[in-house]
Formats: sequence, structure tokens, C-alpha cells
Amino acid sequence: MNKIYKNDFPIFNNNNKLVYLDSTATSQKPKIVIEWIKDYLENSYSNIYRWLYSISERSEELYKKSKKKVLENIWANSIKEIIYTYNSTYALNLLASSLRISDKLKKWDKILLTITEHNANLIPWLILEEEIWIEIEYVNLDGDYNLDLEDFRKKYDKRVKIISFTHVSNVTGQIFDLEEIWKRKREDTIFIVDASQSIPHFKIDINKLNCDYLFFTWHKVFADTWIWILWWKEKLLKELKPSFSWWGAIWKVGDDGFSYAKIPEKFEPGTPNITWAVSLLKAFEYIENIWWYKVLEKYEYNLVEYFLEKIKKYRNIKLIWSKKNINRIWVFSIVINWIHSNDIADILAEKNIAVRSWKHCAHRFFWKLWLVHSFRVSLYIYNTKKDIDIFFDNLNLIIENY
Ligand SMILES: Cc1ncc(COP(=O)(O)O)c(C=O)c1O
Repeated sequence: MNKIYKNDFPIFNNNNKLVYLDSTATSQKPKIVIEWIKDYLENSYSNIYRWLYSISERSEELYKKSKKKVLENIWANSIKEIIYTYNSTYALNLLASSLRISDKLKKWDKILLTITEHNANLIPWLILEEEIWIEIEYVNLDGDYNLDLEDFRKKYDKRVKIISFTHVSNVTGQIFDLEEIWKRKREDTIFIVDASQSIPHFKIDINKLNCDYLFFTWHKVFADTWIWILWWKEKLLKELKPSFSWWGAIWKVGDDGFSYAKIPEKFEPGTPNITWAVSLLKAFEYIENIWWYKVLEKYEYNLVEYFLEKIKKYRNIKLIWSKKNINRIWVFSIVINWIHSNDIADILAEKNIAVRSWKHCAHRFFWKLWLVHSFRVSLYIYNTKKDIDIFFDNLNLIIENY
């Protein structure tokens, strides 16, 4: 635990005073990932599925290897179930529209979401609400920011065809106990999990979560910006028609129409982001080198403890999170009523301290809380207690001088 992980990330050497507290949005990249991308682009880069020349073969091998790593990491069954897309937002759009054109969702069907959903897991459903008249209901939270299971029970009626819940809130940092949802779920309901904020913090076993679709992003876990979606149940994946189809997604075009490619290609039209996929291999290696999530979890626990201890002395500010240091990740959303969060973020930015302000793409949750904005501090393995001290010293100055 004495190792300073910050040294593994060149951005901190190149921006001496940078205090990066926005890892919930995206993670910084370790040197081994950056060097690996450079090495790949200089030595092996090519399009894939061209086979006949060696760099194409090498690129395809690395592309498939990265999917195999994903598969092992979440205990999926086959790489056919793993689909790469651009980001979580795109993944859910692709899923929602594919469900619609495959007649899995019809007029008056109901979808359950949590009240905390990121817009990525809200807007695609709102569009379907307008287009085909589905209905959306929102499951509330209890006083401790956990899922309100009683509210879930009340809203989970026969019309519910899809439950699409985030695993961890990007506003409160709370980890929802989705096994409880799975236990209460009927066979005929499709269960989708947004794991965008869980994958960066702990290992997921899809067999325990028992979801039908899981989507997440690895740009929040040291890899280059891009993402995959996992559609883990092969059967469901086969039943879906892709809503976007062009090269790669179509197997053959004839006089009498066309036929789809097999999975996963059916859902990966066009040239994929090969470099991103390759970068993922080293992101995994980095995590393996630091003993997988064990170190992350311990480090996280200590920093959360330290942060919570420091924030305790502040009166009259609102903290949008459970007071306990359990079942949570290192995300803290704060409201200071008499200072606008944008001003706080602006003033901190002048000191090279990066925090996020406004509604964190969870607008509906803010309406529910009767709040207009907050500023959010999020940490990762490269943060230190010193970063937290610098943040609080500057926050004190803002409060004193405002
Ligand atoms: C819970 C959650 N879902 C979805 C997303 C969207 O991810 P992306 O920006 O990769 O599309 C985020 C991003 O912060 C998130 O926190």
C-alpha cells in the first residue's frame, strides 16, 4: 500500500500541479497503455478480417484476444456474446432500438428504471416512449440512497417487460444490490444492467448478477476512449435484429434481399476501433500487475474513509450520499447552497483541480431531490491523501472568501 500509483500515469508528470478528481467521467491512462498503443500503431496496425497479410492477422489476433480478456474477466461463456461499440451511451441506444425493431417492446409495455439513471440509460427509453408509447416508471431510493425494494415491488406489475438499472449511481456512489432485483424478477422480464460505474471499482460476475444484458465502458478503467457492450445471453442476442446494418453486419446481399452476419459481427457494423480494443489488453495487464481489484478496493476504502472524515466538520452543506463507508465507491456529490457549483468548479479549475459540476447527466434524480446542481469529486488509484488535502484547503478558501 506504500506504492504511489500516480507515478505510473504520465499526465501527472506533464501537468505538475494537476489534481484530477473527475475519474467517474473517465480515467487517466497508465504509461504501459500509452506505450503499448504507440507500439501497436508503429508496428502492427491494420484493419481486421483482411487475413491475407501479416499485420492484419496480428491486429485480428489482438482484437480477439482483448475480447477473450473481457470474457474471462466477467465470466461470460463465449466471445460471441461480447460486442464492442463506441461508449455506454451508444451501446444502450443500439440495444433499445434493436429491441424495438425485434418486437420485444410494444405499445403499453412498461420499463422500470431507477430514479438515479444516467441519461445514457434514460433518453433511449424516452425516445421509445414517444415513438411507440411504452411507459416508463422510476423506482425510488430509500433514505440511505439504496434501492427502495418496496417501491420496486409496487411498480413491478405484469406490464413490465424490461428492468434497466444502473449497478452504481454516478451521483451518490451507492452500489445497488441487484441480486435482490434478480431474486424478485419474473422469467419473462429482460434485465439490463448499466455497469459503467461498477467495472472500474470491483469485479463483476455476470452469473451472479443474472442479467440478460450488461453494458459498460473500459475508458473508465485505464483503456483508451471507446467501449464495449456485452450482450451475454447468446440466445437473446440471436433473436435480436440489429438496428444499424452495413458492412460486416450483413452476411450476403443477393437479388432476393440480404441476410445478417452471425453474432457478434451482426452488431458490429463497419470497421471497429481496433486500437481501442488493443489498448484494453494493457489496461488489463496494469490491473493484473496491481493484484487486480484487491488493491483498488483497499485503496478506495482508505481514501473514502479519509474523505468522509474531512467532510464531517462542514456544516450547512448537503452531501448526496449515504453516511456509511460501505457499499459505495469513491464518488462524492456536494451542494453548498449559497455558492453555485459551477463557480466552485471554476475557481478550483484555476488551481488545476479538476472536479465536475452540474447534474452529472442524472437530471431526473436532481428533480426528485429538488436540487439544481452539485459539484462532484471522484477519485481513483492515482489519487492520494495529499490530493484530498489540497481539495479541502481550496474549498475552505472558497467558502471563506465567497
Ligand atoms: C452510470 C453511467 N452510465 C452511463 C454512462 C455513459 O458512459 P459513456 O460516456 O461512456 O457513454 C456514464 C458516464 O459517466 C455513467 O456514469
